[in-house]
Amino acid sequence: MKKRILTGITTTGTPHIGNYLGAIKPALYLAKDFDESFYFLADYHAIIKNSNSQEVDDSVKNVALSWLAAGLDTSRSYFYRQSDVPEIMELSWILSCVTAKGLMNRSHAYKAATAFNDNEEDKGITMGLFSYPILMAADILMFNATHVPVGSDQMQHIEMTRDIAGRFNHIYKNTFEIPEAIIQSNKEVVPGVDGRKMSKSYGNIIPFLSTEKVLKKSIAKIVTNSLEPGQPKDHSDCTVHSLFSYFANEDQINELTKDYKDGISWGDAKNKLFEIVNNEIKPIREKYETFSQDSDLINDLLSDGASKVKVIAKEKIESIRDSVGIKKIS
Ligand code: ADP
Ligand code: TRP
Repeated sequence: MKKRILTGITTTGTPHIGNYLGAIKPALYLAKDFDESFYFLADYHAIIKNSNSQEVDDSVKNVALSWLAAGLDTSRSYFYRQSDVPEIMELSWILSCVTAKGLMNRSHAYKAATAFNDNEEDKGITMGLFSYPILMAADILMFNATHVPVGSDQMQHIEMTRDIAGRFNHIYKNTFEIPEAIIQSNKEVVPGVDGRKMSKSYGNIIPFLSTEKVLKKSIAKIVTNSLEPGQPKDHSDCTVHSLFSYFANEDQINELTKDYKDGISWGDAKNKLFEIVNNEIKPIREKYETFSQDSDLINDLLSDGASKVKVIAKEKIESIRDSVGIKKIS
C-alpha cells in the first residue's frame, strides 16, 4: 500500500513564521519518507472564516507563493486548490450523512464559538463552521491519505476524520484508509512578538514573505523584560531565544544561551535572531519575488495539479457513489 501524506492550509491571511515552521517546512521535509505527497490550498475552508472576497483571493495567492517559495516541487508532489476538485465537496456531503451530529457538537472550534452565548443565531455561527471537520475529513479521505502532518490544534479534526472514516467503512464497505496525524513533537507552538502563540488572530506575527526591512522591524517589536546590557538573562522563558532555536543548530543555541548568561543586550540578541532568520529566508524570498510577478505561472501550476488529482478523485468518488447506492439503474 502506498504511503501518502496530505496537508492543507486555509487561505485566510498571509502566512507567518509560525505557519512556515509549524506547517509548511515540516510537511515539505516529510515528503522524502513517503511515496506520494499532497499539498493543497483550503480555499473553501477560508470562506467559513472570512467573508471578505478580496482578502480570500489575496490569501490564495500568498499561501500558494509560500508553498512554492519554501521549496515545494510540483513535479514530485500534488499541489492544488481544494475548489478545483468539486469531488471533495460531493464527498463532504456524503460524509455528512454518516457523521453523528453529536460528534460535531464536540468540535473545539464550534464549542469556542458558542462558549459565551447560548443563542447561536446571535453568534453568527454558520453551518459551515459547524461542518468544518467534515470538509476536512473529505479533503483527507478523498485521496486515502495515510499520514496528515498538522499542528497540535488540528489533532481533534484528525480524530474526527478517523471516526467518520470508520463509521462509513462500517455502514458500507471498507472504502477509506484510516489516516494518522503527524504532530510536530518537541516544539509545537512558535511564539509571536508578544510571547503568545503566533497567530494572525492575535496580530503578533512575524510575516514569512517579507522584505529584510520588515523582518527586522518585526523582530525589533518582540517584547522582552527591561534587564540592562551586562545583566545576566534567563533564556528559558524568552521569545527571542525560543524563536532563535527554531532556526539554529545545537552549537548555535548553546552559544546564545551562554551570551544570555554573559549579559548580552536585547538589541544584540535581536540582531542575532534577525541574522539567523534572514539567512534561512533569503533564498525563499528570492523565489517568492520571482513567482509573485508571474500569476500565470502559479495558476498553471495549480491547474496542472488539479488535473492530476482529479484523476484520482474521479475514480474514488465513483466507487463511493456506488457504495452508497448512487449508480446506474440496473
Ligand atoms: P493562525 O493561528 O495564524 O490563524 P492557522 O490556524 O491558519 O494559523 O494555521 C495554519 C497551520 O499553521 C496549521 O497547521 C497550524 O497548526 C500551523 N500554525 C499556526 N500557528 C502556529 C504557531 N504559532 N506555531 C506552530 N504552528 C502554527
Ligand atoms: N483545518 C486546517 C487548518 O486550519 C487546514 C486544512 C483543511 C487541512 N483541510 C485539511 C489540514 C486537511 C490537513 C488536512 O490548519
